[in-house]
Amino acid sequence: MMVNVLSAIVAYLTCPVCGADLTLGRGSVSCANNHSFDVARQGYINLLPGGAHAGTADTAAMVEARAAFVAEGHFASFAALLADHVAAATGPSFGLESGSPLIVDAGAGTGYHLTAALGRCPSAVGMAIDISKFAARRAARAHPQIGAVVADLWGRLPVRSGAASAILNVFAPRNPGEFRRILRPDGSLLVVSPTARHLQEVVRPLQLLSVDDDKTRQVDSVLGDLFDLVDRTEHETGLLLPHLAVEALVRMGPSSRHHSSADIRDRVAGLADPVPVTASFTLSIYRPTG
Ligand SMILES: C[S@@+](CC[C@H](N)C(=O)[O-])C[C@H]1O[C@@H](n2cnc3c(N)ncnc32)[C@H](O)[C@@H]1O
Ligand SMILES: [Zn+2]
Repeated sequence: MMVNVLSAIVAYLTCPVCGADLTLGRGSVSCANNHSFDVARQGYINLLPGGAHAGTADTAAMVEARAAFVAEGHFASFAALLADHVAAATGPSFGLESGSPLIVDAGAGTGYHLTAALGRCPSAVGMAIDISKFAARRAARAHPQIGAVVADLWGRLPVRSGAASAILNVFAPRNPGEFRRILRPDGSLLVVSPTARHLQEVVRPLQLLSVDDDKTRQVDSVLGDLFDLVDRTEHETGLLLPHLAVEALVRMGPSSRHHSSADIRDRVAGLADPVPVTASFTLSIYRPTG
């Protein structure tokens, strides 16, 4: 992460303790009330208050597996499509206003989708929020316009009200009230969730956690009073994955918490090689209710 990106990001951040503005110092950010937070050597800002639970954070091994999987390009066409939608949803205001418009990726993981979005929005800065410091470390290196922040999506976000032109939320937790607060009134929230067909061929043999049939409806009802759905599309592709990619797919997901690497390798070894796998997502675009 370049220093000028850090200062651009800090201008949008607030103190997680008292809510005051933050300023960037040498190796740390602090507020006027002397609350101070480290800028890690690896380039991310840790704004998680001490003692916060990071129970749902992706582990180092999960983040490595995710990085390896996406690096093979299996989700590249989907990332490009999402980036098109970010560019379209944020519209002509991008680049025309003073300062850099902000794209927040809530639960950014390695920063893969935010990187694709920034490719379509060259004047924007990207804020990668994740509770996993391993993810934040990766995201900070993913693109020179990304600033990475460790924070908990379930709590109050350390972001100024009305700061974001767009929020991405790809396979990650949602906080409707906070998304609404940090989004500009003319901003867009882009939510990607799996359909019930996602990875359907391997759910049973690999003992993955399956997706609820009405996942998309759940997302709508959670966002209900605060956002209007303006567009929804489904995207489905057939992937042919070599065994190493299937192992990475399992190791990057939540079921890896319950299975050892050896166990995962044994299960994958029992499948055809390559493995035909369906990737199936719903992209929903919301705007704040008027
Ligand atoms: C399934 S991964 C998706 C990552 C990324 N959006 C992608 O599509 O590659 C979910 C991410 O959400 C993060 N996460 C889980 N709980 C969180 C929370 N409470 N606050 C912030 N991030 C969280 C995890 O650490 C993980 O990086
Ligand atoms: Zn403070």
